[in-house]
Amino acid sequence: MIGVFYPVWGSDIPDSIREKMNQMKDGGGKKIFLVGDCAVFTGDTGMHWKKILKKKGYDAFYVDHLTMPININIPGWNLWKVPDKDKQDKLFAEAESRLKELCSSVLEGKRKNDGTSPFSRFFGWFQRMGLEAFTNYAKKFFMCDSNKCTRCGLCYRVCPQNNITIDEDKGAVSGTDCILCMKCYNLCPVSAVLVDKGSSDVKRYRRYKGPGRGINPVEYR
Ligand SMILES: Cc1cc2nc3c(=O)[nH]c(=O)nc-3n(C[C@H](O)[C@H](O)[C@H](O)COP(=O)(O)O)c2cc1C
Ligand code: SF4
Ligand code: SF4
Repeated sequence: MIGVFYPVWGSDIPDSIREKMNQMKDGGGKKIFLVGDCAVFTGDTGMHWKKILKKKGYDAFYVDHLTMPININIPGWNLWKVPDKDKQDKLFAEAESRLKELCSSVLEGKRKNDGTSPFSRFFGWFQRMGLEAFTNYAKKFFMCDSNKCTRCGLCYRVCPQNNITIDEDKGAVSGTDCILCMKCYNLCPVSAVLVDKGSSDVKRYRRYKGPGRGINPVEYR
């Protein structure tokens, strides 16, 4: 049995996971379960991938999602804010208990289809249409406050795209391969990664550090 866990991004999955899923072939009826983590709305993310995996011969028998804190907190996007510590802890505890239920259901072989309503399907499709254009547009705004940046290299190490270089004069420099994961923005210890000058107000634009409240679990290089 295979399990795929992914963050929901614009009712789709990040490029690196998509690449892996696209490489999967000849399922031969192998069982697979799909679990997304999202902040607000998963749309039909899992069902979209269930369809693709079915064509490859997999039995995606269990599709579900968990709710986690939002990881985007930027000027101009004021609808959602990274919640405070108490609210985050509540969400982590709820997710953990849902995860236990989910694991039991998967092990018992129960079936679940999450995101099948016409609204989920329409909204999912709609979001997927715009995701690439939005990413290409938004990634241009990433910048580094070279006065604040300590050149510690953390953003370089956590970037899943190897998109950041550290320049002695400019500090962290973002290249053209950003997928907008927000790791550099959220995890920089001195909040030197900005999307515009306003985002240096860290009280207003709180950074999301994840359940480990640090760089765990993944440091890429
Ligand atoms: C590029 C991008 C797109 C996102 N799209 C969605 C979305 O469509 N729906 C949603 O509920 N959350 C969305 N989110 C929020 C994340 O899925 C959510 O904050 C995530 O589950 C946080 O947990 P993690 O970073 O620990 O995986 C998006 C986040 C990013 C960075
Ligand atoms: S994590 Fe922050 S301080 Fe460290 S190099 Fe990157 S931008 Fe500079
Ligand atoms: S948001 Fe930062 S860490 Fe994420 S892909 Fe872009 S440059 Fe890399």
